[in-house]
Amino acid sequence: MNKPVPVILDADPGHDDAIAWVVANASKDLKILACTAVNGNCNVHKAQYNARRVMTLIGLNAPVAAGRNCPLYRESLSAPANIHGESGLDGPALPEPVMELEECSAVELMARTLKNSDEPVTIVATGPLTNVAQLLLAHPELKNRIARISLMGGGIKYGNWTPAAEFNILFDPEAADIVFSSGIPIIMAGLDVTEKALIKPEDVEAIKAISNPVSEIVWQWLEFFYRFHLSIGYRGAPMHDVCAVMALIHPEVFTMQSMYVKIETSGMYTTGKTVGDIYNVTGIKPNATCLIDVDRPEFVRLLTEYIRCYSEVQ
Ligand code: RIB
Ligand code: CA
Repeated sequence: MNKPVPVILDADPGHDDAIAWVVANASKDLKILACTAVNGNCNVHKAQYNARRVMTLIGLNAPVAAGRNCPLYRESLSAPANIHGESGLDGPALPEPVMELEECSAVELMARTLKNSDEPVTIVATGPLTNVAQLLLAHPELKNRIARISLMGGGIKYGNWTPAAEFNILFDPEAADIVFSSGIPIIMAGLDVTEKALIKPEDVEAIKAISNPVSEIVWQWLEFFYRFHLSIGYRGAPMHDVCAVMALIHPEVFTMQSMYVKIETSGMYTTGKTVGDIYNVTGIKPNATCLIDVDRPEFVRLLTEYIRCYSEVQ
């Protein structure tokens, strides 16, 4: 087995963020150095509390810090409570955090982590890109300490918050533009793939049957997350954020295409769109490896096996 890849997890938990962290923490291919909370699905105060509760549930022992509670230059969008609930992570009761929040900001924890790592670190971003962009603005000298950014965001063919824009990118389009223009290798898990990475009711039953302390929570998160998506016609719960983790540890389950992606920051109808040059008509060198398809049965099998790993821990 290769040496585990050092990662920083940046998220706005969020049900699918939480399940992404369940997978990341179970994988022996990743070494989680730090966790940071970002404003998105809920305000950053709720996001950091949810992050620490998830870390406590899964036994993830790493420093955790909170980012700013607004996008770089805009007002926050308000995510309706019917997707993740008032708390941002409604559903089953979760343990109270066993770790304190770091006194430093998310950006300073990221910077400290990059400086202290003996090799470049991968950032797994599954919320708006505010923290990551701020890190690049405040510490340009650390850019070469970032190996790559695996992010959930955007959609080459369509959006989910507007017809053009996906939530994470639209929430802070200027931050996304800074990240996509940084030159750091990007893996983009956009809606084109994440809406195919569905957990269907029969998959939830298989997870429920595992019956370990983590699976007991995950199946209830899935049921909560699926309830909203079922109401708008989905045939399962889309594991948006899990794709950003799975792309690092099981790239073989995805079809990927490298392309130049530019973020629209001032379109009347298209602000927040990830404009992907699928046919390379601009001739500009690709800046992102976009996930465009997934072997869903294998994705679900792997996700289920990572949840089963928590049986051995008990
Ligand atoms: O558009 C999907 C993204 O927004 C995911 O990160 C999910 O957490 C939602 O909040
Ligand atoms: Ca998220």
